[in-house]
Amino acid sequence: MEWITWGDHLRLGHEVIDGDHQRLVTIINQLADSVINPTGQHEDEELLAEFLAQTSRHFAAEDQLMVEHRYPRAAEHMAEHAILIQAALDTQAEFAAHLSTTVSLLRFLRKWLTHHILTADKDLEDYLVLR
Ligand SMILES: [Fe+2]
Ligand SMILES: [Fe+2]
Repeated sequence: MEWITWGDHLRLGHEVIDGDHQRLVTIINQLADSVINPTGQHEDEELLAEFLAQTSRHFAAEDQLMVEHRYPRAAEHMAEHAILIQAALDTQAEFAAHLSTTVSLLRFLRKWLTHHILTADKDLEDYLVLR
């Protein structure tokens, strides 16, 4: 299911960053599939854990790019990464404790990912292209 549609509206033009973002979108869409066709084998929890692992790796890669290229807004972008990871961990804990539904989780992740890509990451990509 295309819970998030990957396309030009999310593609920023940096091959590595776009590849990572597309992988994150794919995992969220797989999570949406697991809601529609539940296997009863904790697939959603595994996908959420995979999403968090891939997101941490991606944020670390972006953080490194910002340092390497002396991106002037690195501190605030890195702070946003830290806040997003914490929010995702909190949501994961709520989900594990059955305090939130998968649908609310999917809504949260869609807003969380697309907003960050279209604001902070867009600004970073614009900066990298000009260098
Ligand atoms: Fe970012
Ligand atoms: Fe990103």
